Amino acid sequence: MRPAPRNTTSLLVDNIGELVTNDGRGGDPLGVRRDAAVLIEDGQVAWVGPARYAPAADRRIDAGGAAVLPGFVDSHAHLVFAGDRAAEFAARMAGEPYTGGGIRTTVGATRAASDDDLRATVSRLRAEMLRQGTTTVEIKSGYGLSVADEARSLRIAAEFSEDTTFLGAHVVPAEYADRPDDYVGLVCGPMLAAAAPHARWIDVFCERGAFDVDHARAILACGQAVGLGVRVHANQLGPGPGVRLAVELGAASVDHCTHLSDADVDALASHRIDCMCPDGEHTTTVATLLPGAEFSTRSPYPDARRLLDAGVTVALATDCNPGSSYTSSMPFCVALAVREMRMTPAEAVWAATAGGAAALRRTDVGRLTPGARADLMILDAPTHLHLAYRPGVPLIRQVLHNGVPR
Ligand code: NIG
Ligand code: FE
Repeated sequence: MRPAPRNTTSLLVDNIGELVTNDGRGGDPLGVRRDAAVLIEDGQVAWVGPARYAPAADRRIDAGGAAVLPGFVDSHAHLVFAGDRAAEFAARMAGEPYTGGGIRTTVGATRAASDDDLRATVSRLRAEMLRQGTTTVEIKSGYGLSVADEARSLRIAAEFSEDTTFLGAHVVPAEYADRPDDYVGLVCGPMLAAAAPHARWIDVFCERGAFDVDHARAILACGQAVGLGVRVHANQLGPGPGVRLAVELGAASVDHCTHLSDADVDALASHRIDCMCPDGEHTTTVATLLPGAEFSTRSPYPDARRLLDAGVTVALATDCNPGSSYTSSMPFCVALAVREMRMTPAEAVWAATAGGAAALRRTDVGRLTPGARADLMILDAPTHLHLAYRPGVPLIRQVLHNGVPR
């Protein structure tokens, strides 16, 4: 039925060949509609339906028969840093393993940088992401590792994202190398107090060489006690207890998941929800896979098929950072996930949009349904399949963020 005309500035995107709504209805997770139109009012989706029933609007964008998708939700990125580690990447491509040891190099460069330098880097990467269709990005601290440097990293991150994550427990910084217990005390005490006002989430790198499970549990519990949601970096470099810790604490997401035992998969699967209800809360722990990291560290890719077949909710994100994954491109991650991780193109697109939203426990992004934020991309392609089918090709023709063309 044709909706009644409304009293605000409206924008109609029509002549959409394939519209991915992620509305979760009708057994098709992508909720694909053909010959559709989307009405946008006040930065939100106001109406979705067949183009022939589209209401009149103040302005119009003709999608020219192309595919329109929700903007990507990149739920894992480390954008507040200085310097790069291109030489470390070159050494890896010549056979050196990735150990995470280079994190301290970036900590040194980040501490030495001015606020404006850090802000400029976040701004540049955020702009790069937007051009590639990313309309929501989570931003972590984790290269300051002092009270002042973690607090300023999060202050700067909060200028660019609602989803900021305190990662004071990234590694133990050099000055605490021989007294990790003291560093955990610092993170749980003054550092958390300074960081929490600027953060929505807390994260720990739970891995051999970073934080063991007891330290990780203690730090995450302190964050929860002051109202932060939990996310965990786990099972990236080898098997370990991080995934099960994340599930135990009700984390929104556990990220990397490269080395999983049957018990890890069972733990994730037993906490799953069967569908993402249009207005429901996400209560599951999402497995966020970061194939850019495996690409850039020449590591085996995580077994996405195993997780999906077990019913685990999977998200894809870039892990954008100067060490293990210096890509800002969600289309690249989608292509890797399809080619290297045995995800179907539909599963990968869902994971990069609705999956990312689930990992951030957000219901206002990652979908194009009435009431959602009007974040969308128009492809230079007729269907979502082309994102994986045409890897490396700039297929994002236009991005709308909060209903505004960028
Ligand atoms: O998610 N694994 C821990 N942290 C980052 C890498 C950080 C770095 O190497 O600078 C990651 O991959
Ligand atoms: Fe990361």
